[in-house]
Amino acid sequence: MSEESRSSIHGQWSNRMVFILAATGSAVGLGNIWKFPYITGENGGGAFVLVYLVCIAAIGVPIMMAEVMLGRRGRQSPINSMRILAAEEGRPASWSWLGWLGVIAGFLILSYYSVIAGWALSYVFRTASGVFEGATADGVSSIFTGFVSSPESLLAWHTIFMVITMIVVSRGVKHGIERAVSYLMPSLFVLLIILLFYAMSTGYFMQGLEFMFTPDFSKLTAQSVLVAMGHAFFTLSLGMGAIMVYGSYLPKETSIAKATMMIAVADTTVALVAGMVIFPIVFANELLPGEGPGLIFQTLPIAFGQMEAGVLIGTLFFILLGFAALSSSISLIEPAVAWLVENRGMSRVDASVWCGLATWLVGVGSVLSFNLWASKTWSLSLFGETLFENKTFFDTLDGLTANIMLPLGGLFIAIFAGWMMRPESSKSELNTVEKGYTLWINLVRVIAPFAVMVVFLNVIGVIDFN
Ligand code: TRP
Repeated sequence: MSEESRSSIHGQWSNRMVFILAATGSAVGLGNIWKFPYITGENGGGAFVLVYLVCIAAIGVPIMMAEVMLGRRGRQSPINSMRILAAEEGRPASWSWLGWLGVIAGFLILSYYSVIAGWALSYVFRTASGVFEGATADGVSSIFTGFVSSPESLLAWHTIFMVITMIVVSRGVKHGIERAVSYLMPSLFVLLIILLFYAMSTGYFMQGLEFMFTPDFSKLTAQSVLVAMGHAFFTLSLGMGAIMVYGSYLPKETSIAKATMMIAVADTTVALVAGMVIFPIVFANELLPGEGPGLIFQTLPIAFGQMEAGVLIGTLFFILLGFAALSSSISLIEPAVAWLVENRGMSRVDASVWCGLATWLVGVGSVLSFNLWASKTWSLSLFGETLFENKTFFDTLDGLTANIMLPLGGLFIAIFAGWMMRPESSKSELNTVEKGYTLWINLVRVIAPFAVMVVFLNVIGVIDFN
């Protein structure tokens, strides 16, 4: 089949705006609002944020363009797209392994992502009940600790979130995904802006900004550079085929470069605003920025408890956060579902159910790592250097997927797009101005792979900046 006549059996986006919305829906999620603030807090602030921004621009954007391009050219699930494109470019069929790596990464990420999304859902009801009204920072923290120490509650919310995800995914791209994202993303952003005004009123806004934007490079370790790079992949949904699969539903005429820029800017803005909301609240209440995964659940409720109409705004906020998580989670499982439909002849519904069940099961491990397994920890070292030490099941999965599997996937995507594909192919698919193409090809060929390699080698101690 020539690439001209190729189209996806799963359907196509109605128009360019829908792709941008869906891909932004995938990108903007817990990563921006829950994860970015807490890892920024854990890694010392400014210098970490700077590295993250550089990674978005120099690695994330070019690799995102590459991933969308491969998807649109292949028009199938990442596994099959990689196989087809490799054949077309005269490369070994083993490139489809890249698709497999992605399917596994997506599945592992969703398993813990769903647990945290469950926290957001449960906070909808907790906030609506009014318990946070006038609550102190200590009160809010102890509510959080009480909640996560109950495996039953976490399990129930994890289950509810997985079921909702599977329902949306089983309805398919056009009916499920498109509708879910069109209204909710903009609303979430509006609420964040309202919260930003609250943060300005705390009297600690400047201190928050200073924490986020004044780089102190003495706080930067090889580890935190790895976390910043891993997060650039995580937050843009890169390196595992999610964006590739969305690209496979993209109409031929759309400019990939423009769409990518819009998605990256929107995603980064949401993360930075979330940080600017959370850190002033942290400092105003004498909390610690390095609180960990509970950070937003220990800070935002304080704000909701103090502000005018806080019950309403807070409830809405967690509803929208739940939707933001949903529009991300569907993209984490879509590559696996698309593959099962294509290669195993399953119906979308069956494929969704099986994927959901398997993901749910792994998620139980993350549920338990906040309570019964809290002291069960793992360490990993490579070449005698510790990659991580004494991490819970949840932290281990997160570190393994976000900081290792995604950058590795991205590295191979860059190598494939930059070196394995003929420039004629990538040029005609990207169809952008000459200058833009030259910049892109240099970024995916040299800069992005080099940067990922340097960060990896630095972490395992082969090279050392410190
Ligand atoms: N980007 C999403 C977030 O920030 C999470 C996500 C969705 C993701 N799809 C992905 C992460 C694919 C990595 C790969 O919350």
